[in-house]
Amino acid sequence: MNKVELASNFIKQHLHQFQCPICKSNFSEVQSGALICVNHHSFNIAKKGSLFFLNNPVNTEYTTEMLSYRNQFLTAGFFNPMLEEVISKISGNFILDAGCGEGTTTKWMASHFNGDFVGLDISKPAINIAGSGVAPEPYPLFMVGDLAQLPFADQGLTTIVNILSPANYQEFDRTLAAGGELIKVIPGNHYLSELRQLVYPDGEHATYDNAPVKNHFIEHYDHVEFTKVNYKFPLNEQLFTALFNMTPLTWQAKDRKAAILQDGLKEITAEFEIGVVRR
Ligand SMILES: C[S@@+](CC[C@H](N)C(=O)[O-])C[C@H]1O[C@@H](n2cnc3c(N)ncnc32)[C@H](O)[C@@H]1O
Ligand SMILES: [Zn+2]
Repeated sequence: MNKVELASNFIKQHLHQFQCPICKSNFSEVQSGALICVNHHSFNIAKKGSLFFLNNPVNTEYTTEMLSYRNQFLTAGFFNPMLEEVISKISGNFILDAGCGEGTTTKWMASHFNGDFVGLDISKPAINIAGSGVAPEPYPLFMVGDLAQLPFADQGLTTIVNILSPANYQEFDRTLAAGGELIKVIPGNHYLSELRQLVYPDGEHATYDNAPVKNHFIEHYDHVEFTKVNYKFPLNEQLFTALFNMTPLTWQAKDRKAAILQDGLKEITAEFEIGVVRR
């Protein structure tokens, strides 16, 4: 089966869990590689199997080059111990990876947890990378869309995973089914600490405090259960180069790039806080 057929089958199995982001009505069918709503709004499934729910491209801070380096770094397993913890908290079987970036997290979860995964991101270059290469097995569906206008029906999702990405709690509340869970991953205060200290030995960027993001999350929900995950990820020259280039954290150090790459790092701290809300 090609990617358009794989995507069509995926959508058919969940047709009533999607919703047209233009008129908020149901989708009625998937025909000739397009998803069509009851009011005849039509969304083509691209050759790579991805759907485009946004008409106008949105520029994000992530360029294709940065996304490729991120892809290289995440494929090397940087997030795996964190993702292991995330999937241990999933109870449903129709899961949105909200703000999935270049899709490595979605693919990893789909191959380690028995459920149907959708990866959604506002960045077209990110979803292009997600849809490239051999069709993953099992097949996650990737789409360009906006968290503020999710193309899912009310209570259409059993689980929302939101990793290091912005959230839209109003849309999460609308689309999450009763009994479902929201799993939000935020960076811990020591996330990438060695890189921060190497790049910014002092000043405001030398340390990170996740309190504003964490507080915004807690303010919205009565009960959030947090788990902290902390581990070291070993680096070699190639991986350090990928790390340096994948994050906006190093932007202000571009002029010192050669010296920093020369110094390098042997390992990097991965620290996350995983908050779970059950509905
Ligand atoms: C730090 S990246 C994290 C990506 C991925 N979850 C990961 O951990 O590699 C944040 C992502 O959020 C996406 N994003 C930002 N605003 C968004 C929105 N309104 N709707 C969907 N995605 C959005 C960006 O395009 C970007 O890919
Ligand atoms: Zn419509």
